[in-house]
Amino acid sequence: MKPKKSVSKKSKPRQKDKFRKILVTSALPYANGPIHLGHLVEYIQTDIWVRYLKMCGHQAYYFCADDTHGTPIMIAAKKANLAPEAMLENIHREHTRDFKLFQIEFDNYYTTNSPENRGFAEYIYKKSLEKKRIARRSVRQLYCEKDLMFLPDRFVRGICPVCGAADQYGDSCEVCSSTYAPSELVHPKCSVCGSPPVFKESEHLFFVLSECRKFLEKWIRTPGRVDDGIRKKMDDWLSGELRDWDISRDGPYFGFEIPGEINKYFYVWLDAPIGYMASSKNFFSRTKPELFDEFWKKGSKSELYHFIGKDIAYFHVLFWPALLESADFRVPDAVFIHGFLTVNGEKMSKSRGTLIRAESYLRHLDPGALRFYYASKLSGGLDDLDLSSTEFLSRYNADVVGNLTNIFSRLCGTIAEKLDHTLSDGLTDDGAKLEEFALARALETMSAFENRNFARAMREITALGDAINKFINDREPWKKIKENPESARSVLTDALTAGRILAALMKPVLPVFAAGVEELLAEKEPLSYLNLKSRFEAGHKIRPYRHLSSRIDPASFDAMFEEEKNPVMEKKDKNPGGEVSSPQSEGIISMEEFSRVQLRVGKIISASTIDGADRLLQIELDVGEEKRRNVIAGIWEAYAPEDLKDMNVVCVTNLAPRKMKFGVSEAMLLAAGSGASLTLFVSHRSAKPGDLLK
Ligand code: 2FM
Ligand code: ZN
Repeated sequence: MKPKKSVSKKSKPRQKDKFRKILVTSALPYANGPIHLGHLVEYIQTDIWVRYLKMCGHQAYYFCADDTHGTPIMIAAKKANLAPEAMLENIHREHTRDFKLFQIEFDNYYTTNSPENRGFAEYIYKKSLEKKRIARRSVRQLYCEKDLMFLPDRFVRGICPVCGAADQYGDSCEVCSSTYAPSELVHPKCSVCGSPPVFKESEHLFFVLSECRKFLEKWIRTPGRVDDGIRKKMDDWLSGELRDWDISRDGPYFGFEIPGEINKYFYVWLDAPIGYMASSKNFFSRTKPELFDEFWKKGSKSELYHFIGKDIAYFHVLFWPALLESADFRVPDAVFIHGFLTVNGEKMSKSRGTLIRAESYLRHLDPGALRFYYASKLSGGLDDLDLSSTEFLSRYNADVVGNLTNIFSRLCGTIAEKLDHTLSDGLTDDGAKLEEFALARALETMSAFENRNFARAMREITALGDAINKFINDREPWKKIKENPESARSVLTDALTAGRILAALMKPVLPVFAAGVEELLAEKEPLSYLNLKSRFEAGHKIRPYRHLSSRIDPASFDAMFEEEKNPVMEKKDKNPGGEVSSPQSEGIISMEEFSRVQLRVGKIISASTIDGADRLLQIELDVGEEKRRNVIAGIWEAYAPEDLKDMNVVCVTNLAPRKMKFGVSEAMLLAAGSGASLTLFVSHRSAKPGDLLK
């Protein structure tokens, strides 16, 4: 018998099947807009979960794709004067970039406009036809005689039949929240061309959901499929009428044509979830082809989970399992449903500047800070998540900088240096107790991660951070270092042994922070949950301290909201001739404009001359990031390469990389003067690579 795969909120990490095969997805974002912080609630939580599973040694995969079909995308491409495929390519590039910068590590990020997806959509449709689960009937729909297309409800605007509000959608009113049929809308207009539409009949294809009632009832009643809150809703849906689902659209439509039909296309919501399969097929074909069937074949013992927002539950808990079952594929083990993002207690809004694009967040704040904040607020339920700027700042500054980073920064700087960065042989008794405490926290944290209660995991980790900091405070190694260096070495070793467990626990949430700790502690293997108990070898040498995180400036939030309220592009659009500057404002820039320039402390790791370039030096620069930057600077006349080593200079770190004849320059060093009298700007007191200049 197939083992039960219930992952209820209370379930424990499964010991029985030690290494599991798990396929995880996030909802596919539409390919007609940028990724914003609302989207990231889902991608970040899924990414944390998959990273956690991988660290446990499970064979876990994370798949996603752009959701590319439908009328809005077709119209957006037309407006942009692009072929849909060209627009899709641009969006795919932007989405991929944003996800990467937020450290979201898909195994494959694909597209629904793919041959694999077409193949599966046709196959599932064919199987549904064979099982007589496809019906046909005529539908009366609004049609624009000018654009020669049927209008989806969202593409009709008119007066609300209930409250009389102007300019409302064809299916619902944003003022009084009523829903209605498009035929009831008063004075409807096509939102593409503004002309009044007419009603026209057309034959549509329907998926007969009621045929799947028995199967769905059984699927839904299996424990762990969905959160209790949503299960009640599903019981209501299942006890009512299960209406047939319209899966066809007439051309012109951007999507897959339905085989055997003329000018009919699959509705975008039919092929969107099939995109989960297509993305995995595309990946496995290139890597381990046998795994596709292992995951998707009926009766598969591997696991399948979908993360989605509460607005698309109906599609994922009724239509999607019904489609899979109709085509004799396996069905999902669970659908994890989350709430929406609010910002400072309110719905995200463009005019208030709180609909924040991933791209603009990154101009002001660290992606790790968002990952940490979301983790600390998510407990696996349906509740909305509020992004409160004050809480965001205080949590990150207190927990990540003041607590976790503090452990490493105060031990691994001067103290470790005075001990030649060398650890002692074994732990003291107190150190072993601290390690035991850390391992107990690790068990709790892992169980919390498993159950997607990330908030609890973060509480466990910060409690461990508190304990390690207290351990250090109580022993004051900075006082012991002179008269009893061996005792200071023991404190260092004890605290770092617990510290490496802490970094491993934090790794799914803050992978860059954890990589910094791995580098600092000169770990031989990446930290994982399989090597938590391993200790440092006698005489193990750690590396010199490098910046792990920095405090967030409260001004960053305001600058970000301000930028979203007045995006630079929109200003230009409104004033195509360009802004006219008054005599007083000439050359003056606003605080917001200044804050867009990132000035940071950079440490020169090495410098060398470049063959064939007599004024340039090639510099390896540490700006507090995981990777060092390559800089090409015209300073050779003023500085010999060997004089630059270890110098802390000021540099601009958010300038677009410049491609030069001798390579790409990834930052700019600030200097005054020229030729032999050029001078770099060197920090006056101690400053760490990556520190921001304000
Ligand atoms: O709601 C949305 O943004 C859809 N693009 C989600 C699709 S999820 C899956 F079904 F593909
Ligand atoms: Zn029209």
